Parts: sequence; structure tokens; C-alpha cells
Amino acid sequence: MSKRKNIPMPVIRRLPKYRRYLLELSESDTEKISSTELGIKMGLTPSQIRQDFNCFGDFGQQGYGYNVEVLLSTISEILGMKMKYKFIIIGIGNIGQAIAKYTRFEGIGFELKGIFDINPSLIGLKFRNIEVYDVKFIEEFVKEKNIDIACICIDKRGAQQVCDKLVSSGIKAIWNFAPIDLNVPKDVPLENVHLSESILTLGYLLNEKNK
Ligand code: NAI
Repeated sequence: MSKRKNIPMPVIRRLPKYRRYLLELSESDTEKISSTELGIKMGLTPSQIRQDFNCFGDFGQQGYGYNVEVLLSTISEILGMKMKYKFIIIGIGNIGQAIAKYTRFEGIGFELKGIFDINPSLIGLKFRNIEVYDVKFIEEFVKEKNIDIACICIDKRGAQQVCDKLVSSGIKAIWNFAPIDLNVPKDVPLENVHLSESILTLGYLLNEKNK
């Protein structure tokens, strides 16, 4: 569907939230919802919702609203949930282990296929039955298993080097937890999860509130 191409980034960032609300509606057997009702739940204006949904199809019917199941299925598809992506974790410390142990990523289409670390005392250990390999094998692993996503959970010093190796091995996307702005080619999507920056934003908001 040509309409689904070039969806603006702010709309894409709202899609997981739409999916979460639509899932709740589906679980409570709600068949349809108007942009006004959805807007009230999500804190968005009805026109914002109509504009967003209009980016990927004509779903609403005047006077009827949106069919919850159709919209949920379409958004899930756009978010790649029907694809089954293979991901690996590099760095099995605090963050790496938290991600490895979170079993629900599989349910939304992201399957953990490999774990890598540089620390000899971690190599050979298993997390959710997946063995930790020496990071020196990462390139052949990515190529052989056709891995889609690399989740970088190492400290920032080695992150760019690891990232470069992943890119040259054909990784398709990077999920980065290291506090560094990684350089990647334009065709390799990069999503940063900078936890410290997030809590600092909260610190600013608290400071403002306490002024
Ligand atoms: P950690 O020190 O517990 O784990 C890092 C792991 O990466 C270690 O097992 C280490 O052996 C491995 N490693 C280091 N260099 C490597 C390389 N070149 N190749 C393969 N493995 C390598 O660190 P943690 O706490 O898990 O943090 C990971 C990243 O997330 C860091 O960049 C940190 O700054 C960031 N971060 C972590 C937070 C947290 O709550 N743990 C909060 C905010 C950011």
C-alpha cells in the first residue's frame, strides 16, 4: 500500500502507544472506537489521531469510528510484529541480562538468537539456554545466521568499534544502550535507549517544579 511509505517519524514513535491502547480495547472486546474516545484515553486530539491513521490507510468511517481489530492488526504489521526478527545481545552485564531475561520480546516478534561478551568469565554461561560466545566470533555469527538486530549493551569505549564490525557483517539495525552517538550508514536504522538522558530530563522537570 503506497500510503504506508514515508510515514513521518513522530507518527512512527506514536505507533507503539496506539498499539498498547488498541490491545487493551481488543482485550476488553471493544469492537470500534471513535477518534474522540481514543483521543481522550491517549491524551491526543481527535484530529491528530485522524491525521496519524490517515498516513497508512483509510480506516475510519464517518459516524462509525475505527474497527479496533483491523487497526490493531495493521499497526502490528507496520511495527514489524508479523515478521519475526532475529536479534543478538553484545555485553551481558546488567542491561544485557535484563534484556536477555525478558521473555516477552519474542511474543512481539523479536527472537534472541545469540549473546556475546569479551569477559572470559562470562563466555560459556547460558541465559535462557543461549550460550555466551566470545565477541571475536560476532562477524561470522551475524553473517551465517542472518541476524537482523544487534542490541549493544557494552560501555561506550568499545561501542563504535563493535558497531562497525556489526555493520560490515551485514547487520540490519542497531538497538543501542551505550551512552554514545554511534555512526552508522543511513540504511542501518539506529534506535538509542539512553537511560541516563531520560532520567536527567526528569531531573530538569523536577527542578522546574520546585523553583
Ligand atoms: P556492565 O558493566 O554490567 O556490562 C557490560 C558488559 O559488556 C560486560 O559484561 C563487559 O564484559 C561487556 N563488554 C565490554 N566491552 C565489550 C566489548 N568490546 N565486546 C563485548 N562485550 C564487552 O554494564 P551495564 O550496566 O550493563 O551497562 C551497559 C551499557 O549501558 C553501558 O554503556 C552503560 O553506560 C549503559 N547504561 C547502563 C545503565 C544501567 O542501569 N545498568 C543505565 C544507563 C546506561
